[in-house]
Amino acid sequence: MDNDRLRSVANAIVTREKGVLAADESAPTIRKRFDSVGVESTEENRRRYREILFTTAGIERHIGGVILFDETLRQSTRDGTPFARLLSDRGIIPGIKVDKGARELALYPGEKIAEGLDGLRERLVEYRQLGAEFAKWRAVIEIDGHDIPSPFGIRANAHALARYAALCQELDIVPIVEPEVLMDGAHGIDRCEEVTSGVLQAVFSELDAHRVLFEGMLLKPNMVIAGKRCDRCSSVEQVAEATIRCMTRYVPAAVPGIVFLSGGQSAEDATDHLNAMNRMGPHPWQVSFSYGRALQAPVLAAWKGDESNLESARHALAKRCLLNGLARQGKYARYMEA
Ligand code: 13P
Repeated sequence: MDNDRLRSVANAIVTREKGVLAADESAPTIRKRFDSVGVESTEENRRRYREILFTTAGIERHIGGVILFDETLRQSTRDGTPFARLLSDRGIIPGIKVDKGARELALYPGEKIAEGLDGLRERLVEYRQLGAEFAKWRAVIEIDGHDIPSPFGIRANAHALARYAALCQELDIVPIVEPEVLMDGAHGIDRCEEVTSGVLQAVFSELDAHRVLFEGMLLKPNMVIAGKRCDRCSSVEQVAEATIRCMTRYVPAAVPGIVFLSGGQSAEDATDHLNAMNRMGPHPWQVSFSYGRALQAPVLAAWKGDESNLESARHALAKRCLLNGLARQGKYARYMEA
């Protein structure tokens, strides 16, 4: 295990003004996204779409890393350049999603566990050869009333995340550790903070027990935010304050960066929240983004599978990258959306 290499890759992904583009939608998820804009999810359409994302001019100023799905890491541009090489040549570090999705946790109805640890060491060796320098594993924690998640459901997911992270570091791959407390549900922001706190506490305790080098990893958590069906809305400042309070309590200062997921927030809200958190800085870690929908929803809406919309699709991505780059420095304002 090369500690210096892990440290330098983790830091490079979140250097000033930069964050991560999560373009690692699994086959069922990208189908859902394509369905919403009337595009058929064929292998070639998925390739065409990812080529638009990765060849957009200027994104390297604000994107330090891109997370790919297995299929995408094996694909190339129309003229035959593998996507991983295209990204590296632009100074963007390629990464790979390695969990195999969340399934029902046996004997714990309503809770999930991410699968994919069996054979992971061998898969990681191949992904390294294909150019991936970091990886991602997503654990899904749902909130339902007072009994879900259970302490065991949290512990089981934290343990799997830590086993994955240790396997990555053994092979000099930077792990992005993603425990996602879902926004689905009617819970308020306080309940989200309570659950996120318990999850982060368990995750760092397991990471420590598994001897994971905190300096050579990134954390990808949810923001502390009310559920989508909650009727008590929180202000941008309330979300930023609750999130930073929770991270300050439970994320060691040795971790180089926190790259938040957007989790179903609108693109504008995700940028606004990131901005408000950075305005509260300086923080011990870089406060950055690893957005999927909050970067791509406007791109998909502009593209709709039609070649003649290429430029507006690229414009939509460049705009979100620029605005999130500003939010990284606390320099974003809502009027810039116009
Ligand atoms: P969202 O930003 O759309 O939540 O996606 C991030 C991600 O990678 C989820 O695993």
